[in-house]
Amino acid sequence: MIAIDLHGRVALVTGASGGLGQAIAQNLAHAGATVAAHYHNGRPDAEALIARITQGGGRGQSFAADISDPESAAALIASVETALGGIDILINNAGADGTRATVGHDDTRAWEKVIGIDLLGPYYCARAVVGGMKERGRGVIINITSVHEFIPWSGYSAYTAAKAGLSMFTKTLAQETAASGIRVLAVAPGAIQTAINKEVWSQPQSLADLDQKIAMARLGQPTEIGQVIAFLASDLASYMTGTTIAVDGGMLIYPGFREGG
Ligand code: BGC
Repeated sequence: MIAIDLHGRVALVTGASGGLGQAIAQNLAHAGATVAAHYHNGRPDAEALIARITQGGGRGQSFAADISDPESAAALIASVETALGGIDILINNAGADGTRATVGHDDTRAWEKVIGIDLLGPYYCARAVVGGMKERGRGVIINITSVHEFIPWSGYSAYTAAKAGLSMFTKTLAQETAASGIRVLAVAPGAIQTAINKEVWSQPQSLADLDQKIAMARLGQPTEIGQVIAFLASDLASYMTGTTIAVDGGMLIYPGFREGG
């Protein structure tokens, strides 16, 4: 039998108060990992997540930080390692898409804020864990990008730029660390049903429009990302590094071209 086994591994999930982060943390815990659930503003949700994990027989703890601040990110890594031990798995999940605004009608501070959370944050967290991972000769870093590392998205230039940047950061870090036993991957979710896109899926018209952009014609569920992450973080994926895995129900295969073109 093939099973995903993460017993004895410590996993930090950033943005674990959000829908995607909670599902990722739950799946890692189900596979046996001890989970550090990072949150910024969502303390009650992160604590409820840890309560569910521990009630189910798993282990975990929640940690607060602003990952877009280099000192706060470094302090987060230090507190997790003091409380739970060396981090074996880092899931850079925390992200924000910002307010929709086209270039020139946008706000530079808002642009910088998205880059701070979606690109600088993963960098700050990754740079703080690689030293320990190198010493231990093992580690997995998974950066959550988006189909928008590939697909342009009007009104979200900071988000698309951050996600495409995070994709190249993934590949470069993978190149730098492969010889030390560290694997670095990106996962690009498509439209997953969480609070981030509630405005779209809660209205029948915009939901129908979104479904048309997905070959499977439905939104994904957070656990469908969590399951893939658990596999990628495990030794079953031991020969994978430096690439993006899309988990998007076929958004990237241009379902609009099924007919015509
Ligand atoms: C965004 C979602 C969007 C999806 C597909 C994700 O990166 O966060 O809001 O539904 O991409 O466009």
